[in-house]
Amino acid sequence: RYSLAIVGINLTNMIYQALVNGPLRTHFYNIAEKAPRIQDFHEVYCHVFWEFDKFWFDEEPVDIMQFGPMRDKFNRKLLHKLSKSQTILQSEFQKKE
Ligand SMILES: *[C@@H]1O[C@H](CO)[C@@H](O)[C@H](O)[C@H]1NC(C)=O
Repeated sequence: RYSLAIVGINLTNMIYQALVNGPLRTHFYNIAEKAPRIQDFHEVYCHVFWEFDKFWFDEEPVDIMQFGPMRDKFNRKLLHKLSKSQTILQSEFQKKE
């Protein structure tokens, strides 16, 4: 278990950093909407939260004290994905059509 609000704020910050530092451009470039809208950012957030939740339970951390290292590991995986030019951050449940 973890606190939804704390983790939510933290993941928002993680995504925001990926946005301002550049890596998230891969995703926005690939979804090819004219200019990214705030809605696109929300969708990335939903995807990242969903993925983090799976990651957290797969990793089976003993308690919330593991949040720091788990977050770093997850962030590395996220940045690695974004380093591949074809990456789109989207979950199955977000696919349109
Ligand atoms: C997110 O969590 C990390 C690790 O616990 C911490 O160092 C960082 O300050 C947190 N960032 C925010 C915005 O809460």
